[in-house]
Amino acid sequence: MIKVLFAPLQGYTDAIYRRLHNKHFGGINKYYAPYLRFEPNKDPKNSVINDLLPDNNKKIDLIPQLLGKDLGLFIKHTKKLQEQGYTSVNWNLACPYPMVYKRGFGSGLLKSPEIINELLSEIIPNIEIPLSIKCRLGFDSKNEINELINIFNNHELQEIIIHARTAKQMYKGSASPKYFNSVLSKSKNKLIYNGDINNIADYDKLSEILGHKPNKIMIGRGLLQNPFLANELNGIQYEAEHKLKTLREFHDDILYHYNEKLEKSHILKKMQTFWEYFSYNFENQPKVYKKIKKAVNMQKYEEKVLEIFG
Ligand SMILES: Cc1cc2nc3c(=O)[nH]c(=O)nc-3n(C[C@H](O)[C@H](O)[C@H](O)COP(=O)(O)O)c2cc1C
Repeated sequence: MIKVLFAPLQGYTDAIYRRLHNKHFGGINKYYAPYLRFEPNKDPKNSVINDLLPDNNKKIDLIPQLLGKDLGLFIKHTKKLQEQGYTSVNWNLACPYPMVYKRGFGSGLLKSPEIINELLSEIIPNIEIPLSIKCRLGFDSKNEINELINIFNNHELQEIIIHARTAKQMYKGSASPKYFNSVLSKSKNKLIYNGDINNIADYDKLSEILGHKPNKIMIGRGLLQNPFLANELNGIQYEAEHKLKTLREFHDDILYHYNEKLEKSHILKKMQTFWEYFSYNFENQPKVYKKIKKAVNMQKYEEKVLEIFG
């Protein structure tokens, strides 16, 4: 059995998406929430706080993610999440966007392993639930992962998820499982691979490079493109007809719940974002996505959806 972790994808895997993905497809070991960003004198966004409320995440195993480097706030937010019932938190050392890394958050911290070391020494004894980390291979160079693993080895972490790119790469180029593999035996903490697993062939290729079939991996965009992927990796096969029906029900449920939650003027944009990856479930993806993008109002949108599902 391969345990599949659903990666955090800000703007895509919100509470509605997670809950409905679990309802219609299942197969996910744990969902990771997009980050809650904290810094002194600036409260986290209400939308992010609400997204993490247990009432909005029923029936799924959810790990909240924190982004920031203020020790007191880290401890405070972890405590709050623990009070809400969460049993672990994840620290984001991966976000590559300039507005994040330039402030020394996310992947910005990868440039200062000694600060990560100090923070971990302070955080871990002061929180009561396990901490995991999500990071990249490095900021500028993939070799940085060696020093990072040495630092992480000083601490007891629940697991370390490595998106096998550098921060500088953003999402460009391909992920490098080879570099992930090079530190596998050096890490005292469990390492989990993440990056570019979009189908079974990608998983098989990864297994070949690692020399074994990893029993736990994190997948993001591959699951947005094919919400059945976790089950398919575990050998479950679906008839095309069943797939189409389930995708339709999922889509309609998503639309219904965004209609309930969002202001009317925001729904079209939100559904167009959803189709950026959902369109991969149909033949001629670029054409399908273009159709959706061209819809100027919800009536046109519904017409296009009807046309696509046939
Ligand atoms: C639109 C978008 C939003 C993301 N948001 C987050 C986030 O909030 N926290 C995080 O740790 N990673 C975030 N990521 C990175 C993904 O979790 C994942 O590491 C990355 O997409 C590589 O995995 P994949 O190839 O399976 O998608 C985001 C990625 C994308 C494309």
